[in-house]
Amino acid sequence: MLRVVLFLALTSPQSVLAFCNDGWLPYHNVCVVFSGVERPWHQALAICTKYGGWIYHDNDEDDPDKHTWIVGHMKAHKVASVWIGGFKAGYKSFEWMPGFEYIRDPRWAPGQPKSGELRCISLQGQLGYKWKNENCTSKFHYICERRSNSYFANSSPIKIYDFTPYTG
Ligand SMILES: *[C@@H]1O[C@H](CO)[C@@H](O)[C@H](O)[C@H]1NC(C)=O
Repeated sequence: MLRVVLFLALTSPQSVLAFCNDGWLPYHNVCVVFSGVERPWHQALAICTKYGGWIYHDNDEDDPDKHTWIVGHMKAHKVASVWIGGFKAGYKSFEWMPGFEYIRDPRWAPGQPKSGELRCISLQGQLGYKWKNENCTSKFHYICERRSNSYFANSSPIKIYDFTPYTG
């Protein structure tokens, strides 16, 4: 089964760039999916992790167009705010999760981040698609991404409700 998939991918020009499961959109070396429902940040992370990924890292030092691409999808689907993968653990600074990666080029809105127990980062259309730290229990749409070189051998694991509205 996997061999057939790889064969088709290698022979079809459109899928040479990325191996993405149905419903995930290829973007350079990652596959991206936009949730159709809102979840608390930790649930969003758990779901992205379940599919071998992480919540979108809005860190485009290496790729200035990616943020623009993401924002374009948010606008097209009228999603004003999403969770991104930034989290503040204990007394540390905000980092990308999982893995506590350093945030190289923060995109905070003016006046952000606020102090206090607002440990999760959202990307806010109302703030010019910049960042605002929020209570992690708040519910927002979220974006998962995963490496495109790790196609699921398993046939249809992505058909969960969270992702169905954005399978175009
Ligand atoms: C976060 O939201 C929850 C649920 O509404 C609330 O119980 C909690 O006190 C809030 N935490 C902060 C730091 O505002």
